[in-house]
Amino acid sequence: MTSSSTAAETAPDTAPVDPTTTAAWEALDAHDAEMTGSLREWFAEDPERAARFTHDAADLHVDLSKNLITPRTQELLLQLAEQVGLTDRRDAMFAGEHINTTEDRAVLHTALRRPAGTSPALEVDGQDVDADVHATLEKIYAFARQVRSGEWTGVTGKPIRTVVNIGIGGSDLGPVMVYEALKPLAQEGLEARFISNIDPTDAYETTADLDPETTLVIVASKTFTTLETITNARLVRQWLLQGLRENAGLTREQENEAVAKHFVAVSTALDKVEEFGIDPDNAFGFWNWVGGRYSVDSAIGTVLATVLGPEVFEELLAGFHAMDEHFRTAPAESNVPLLMGLLNIWNVNFLEAETHAVLPYSQYLHRFPAYLQQLTMESNGKSVRWDGSTVVTETGEVFWGEPGTNGQHAFYQLIHQGTRIIPADFIAFATPTRPLTDGEQDVHELFLANFFAQSKALAFGKTAEEVRAEGTEGALVAAREFSGDRPSTSIMAPALTPSVLGQLIALYEHITFVEGVVWGINSFDQWGVELGKQLAKELAPAVAGDEQAIEEQDSSTAELIRYYRAHRA
Ligand code: F6P
Repeated sequence: MTSSSTAAETAPDTAPVDPTTTAAWEALDAHDAEMTGSLREWFAEDPERAARFTHDAADLHVDLSKNLITPRTQELLLQLAEQVGLTDRRDAMFAGEHINTTEDRAVLHTALRRPAGTSPALEVDGQDVDADVHATLEKIYAFARQVRSGEWTGVTGKPIRTVVNIGIGGSDLGPVMVYEALKPLAQEGLEARFISNIDPTDAYETTADLDPETTLVIVASKTFTTLETITNARLVRQWLLQGLRENAGLTREQENEAVAKHFVAVSTALDKVEEFGIDPDNAFGFWNWVGGRYSVDSAIGTVLATVLGPEVFEELLAGFHAMDEHFRTAPAESNVPLLMGLLNIWNVNFLEAETHAVLPYSQYLHRFPAYLQQLTMESNGKSVRWDGSTVVTETGEVFWGEPGTNGQHAFYQLIHQGTRIIPADFIAFATPTRPLTDGEQDVHELFLANFFAQSKALAFGKTAEEVRAEGTEGALVAAREFSGDRPSTSIMAPALTPSVLGQLIALYEHITFVEGVVWGINSFDQWGVELGKQLAKELAPAVAGDEQAIEEQDSSTAELIRYYRAHRA
């Protein structure tokens, strides 16, 4: 496909291909049943194995060789991709077709990072997407520069020192994760904080030591109706106005001005922003074709552009785009998101893995697994396909993880010797953000030695003979044996730069997409979060003590509410 096009205005009504009816699926089933050997044997037999299964995508260097695959597995997985029409679906996404069928929307997060001036321009549903994206970016950058230079002040004339982002889900996880990853690039004297949970202790603890005079709040909500975010925004507005009254003598008449100087918003619903009392001039928009969990590179990243700077944000976007281009144009045999997505299909649907660990060997990426949980599980945790029919395979693995080496001393035992297969992605960077030595020892090298050791131990294990050779006898031998053949992928990059981070995020976005297409599901809606939200609203009277409302509940819920009422101090 070309880099841009004018999209069809309607949802593609093609039914998903049932992957289990394809010749490739049948062949993969047979291949799985007949597969012999082990990673030890495969590496010994094929000196080219590492090179064969290692690919570069932009700055990412990805080694798939320690997975339970042979060249034949990869060949069949690529045939599967072809037989379910993956390329067409990918092209439909980039072109802005309404592949989000249940919401009848285009899926265009990739348009958020198209460089200015890309030709031909992308026009979708009558919207000049490129022009709108870049006009919004310019508005965000102008605002960010004002805050960073001190030109934008609080109501009492002091420059901003803390930017508090209030949001939840995609309006929080992406910004927090990127901020934590790139924190060393924050402007000196300017920090970001994040409030997401409706547990009031979150807002309390986050604001407790802040000075309202130097605090700017970004209320980030795609819909601007999310209970948690709107409630937290009200709590923080109350905190801010009260603080300004007490510390700076703010009068009632100055309150609107204070809100205008200390609150901005990010949303697709600018009318609701105004209802909340925020001047729409101080709001940054985006569009319904950006899913919440795909929105960190939209105006939802305003907190990042402000605290880390427009240049850093631009570099992040360039990284995303580099991975988009790789996914869009690289040949299938070396297309990393495609191969990793298909590998997940192999692990889930043939090897019966239920979870997938993501293990960054970078403390700065400590929120990356949490970010990926929403991206992958809200996208692919579905039981129906995009035409409403029931799925025909397992879908959506559980993603989880922690940075190494902390995880090593917590749950790696189960990955190494448990009864379950847990594919793991190890992520590491050649150059550390903070190079430190302990005497003569480069601590990053110690850290990376652990990174290399873990995937090696998982792949090759330790045989009973090797255990005995170390002098162990009897029952202890079995306890100290490692089976090996535990699959993992190693992702390396030169350093954790904004561009590399953008590449990593886009890599997982596209992996998620690939899996969704094979399973035939719409990875871009999230109806599964609605029922709980609706019930929380309905339960409010019962929680507040309405006896009749309590009695209308099932006995478990009624008793729990009664417990709450009896014990609430
Ligand atoms: O949890 C459901 C969800 O809609 C997520 O998809 C979204 O990221 C989050 O809520 C926050 O939504 P909003 O940005 O509209 O406040």
